[in-house]
Amino acid sequence: MTIDFKQDILAPVATDFAAMDKLINEGISSKVALVMSVSKHVVEAGGKRMRPIMCLLAAHICEEPNLVNAQKLAAIIEMLHTATLVHDDVVDESGLRRGRPTANATWNNQTAVLVGDFLISRAFDLLVDLNNMVLLKDFSTGTCEIAEGEVLQLQAQHQPDTDEATYLSIIHGKTSRLFELATEGAAILAGKHEYREPLRLFAGHFGNAFQIIDDILDYTSDAETLGKNIGDDLMEGKPTLPLISALQNTTGEEHAIVRKSIATGGIADLDRVIEIVNSSGALDYCRQRAHEETTSALNALQQLPESDYRQALHNLAQLALHRIQ
Ligand code: IPE
Ligand code: IPE
Ligand code: MG
Ligand code: MG
Repeated sequence: MTIDFKQDILAPVATDFAAMDKLINEGISSKVALVMSVSKHVVEAGGKRMRPIMCLLAAHICEEPNLVNAQKLAAIIEMLHTATLVHDDVVDESGLRRGRPTANATWNNQTAVLVGDFLISRAFDLLVDLNNMVLLKDFSTGTCEIAEGEVLQLQAQHQPDTDEATYLSIIHGKTSRLFELATEGAAILAGKHEYREPLRLFAGHFGNAFQIIDDILDYTSDAETLGKNIGDDLMEGKPTLPLISALQNTTGEEHAIVRKSIATGGIADLDRVIEIVNSSGALDYCRQRAHEETTSALNALQQLPESDYRQALHNLAQLALHRIQ
């Protein structure tokens, strides 16, 4: 069966989704013109809106009685996500995002950092309105861990000895943690505390699979398909799973090329490294790990009652895997 994003994932929450999108646009409004234009530039470029959709689906699974609040939470999640992307593109010196020049490339680093800060602050401003201390605490702790994930990655940059466990801590922080906030947050909001753990486990494993797949695509896809440039990770000397695995599977010259690419960064050897991650079986290993994480995510869903909403989360996890098949 091929999964259709609109029909098989979005449809059960289509009404909430439209309301949520409106809330994002209202949320990013500012009396400072530059804040407005930078935020709009990134938000209007679209993006897949996976995190808010997951938040809305989780809210329905938890039988949230106040859907407006769920829509607000979903909008907050997407604003936090947008902020992390704006900051991430400064750190990674990336030029392309969602098919558009990044904020840092269009304006400059200073502007991107400050507008990213604004988006985080605004997200918390709106979160306070939901008047739920447990939720506020979960998001405060969670966003600290997201920042720690990005800093841990910075610390691992140019370090060829980085192992898979460290890589997993990095991706759990920088990527999976926000997915967890999206789904577990919905359970907290609805007061369904018994669903917190399965929803967090689903999102955490989904996030890991999603980031592993993203790291594969940085070696196998193209800018047209991705809306961002490939080779960015190698450029920055990031020891992502394809390279960690390639180092484990190679010796001699191939091993030396990968080590050196991480240590120095730069894309001079990109073609050669792509060849090595393919021929060494590193990409196969990454695909296997992405499948394992997806299986763990789907297993967690079994603890929740069956419904169209649960099925949509299942479909989303399957669709994410299709990006690499
Ligand atoms: C990009 O996330 C950052 C990663 C975790 C790889 P998405 O791929 O969800 O970005 P958008 O929102 O669709 O642009
Ligand atoms: C993902 O990091 C961005 C965040 C989770 C903040 P990456 O740097 O790996 O993702 P892309 O490739 O820029 O989207
Ligand atoms: Mg990046
Ligand atoms: Mg990054």
